[in-house]
Amino acid sequence: MSGSRGTHNFNGFISFEGIEGSGKSTQAKLAADYLKGKGRDVLITEEPGGTKISRKIRGILLDAGNNMDPLTELLLYNSARAQHVREIIYPALTRGIIVITDRFSDSTLAYQGYARGIDLAVIKTLDDIVAPDLKPSLTFLLDMDVEEGLRRNRAAKKEDRFELETVEFHKKVRNGYHQIAVEEPDRIKIIDASASVGDVSKKIIEILESQWL
Ligand code: TMP
Repeated sequence: MSGSRGTHNFNGFISFEGIEGSGKSTQAKLAADYLKGKGRDVLITEEPGGTKISRKIRGILLDAGNNMDPLTELLLYNSARAQHVREIIYPALTRGIIVITDRFSDSTLAYQGYARGIDLAVIKTLDDIVAPDLKPSLTFLLDMDVEEGLRRNRAAKKEDRFELETVEFHKKVRNGYHQIAVEEPDRIKIIDASASVGDVSKKIIEILESQWL
């Protein structure tokens, strides 16, 4: 897919993806700490977020009180990303800094595409406009049972607009991620996220070492 869309893989661009409660944020931080410990220059960021404007958009997107049209949702995620890639990601990668992001374009395909049902071709076209020449060289897909992930989030008192979606919706997200991983097996590494934090981190570090260090 990357070739046909003409995207360029920046070697130091790593994303973490997964369903709610899969532990992406924790694992992204552990991976960043590991690479920093090896003397690498690392920037850790997240979507939607990473800039002042993108964080404001995140507030609108995740507000459980907002009844949002799917097209509005798609465009807001892309607006947040447009600012994020231009203000933070491109400049850092251009300076040779490793960028680790907690979610990126695969989230849009999984949530707005496979789960909400927006045409995947529309999503990919928008992505080519918003993040041209930008695709992670490595993506960790933290995979686990949907109900278990939602339970973890509820225990952590996380209740945004997406946590209120049905289990069916989140199963579509998970299946969407699997589909994306089938299409790009070299880039996307599926990690069993039901294991302990330490074991998941060990697996991720093994892959980082084999590809990077
Ligand atoms: P999280 O970063 O705390 O997981 O919250 C972000 C939420 O936004 C999460 O439910 C997934 C959702 N999301 C999308 O639906 N599309 C996107 O493109 C991105 C980046 C996130």
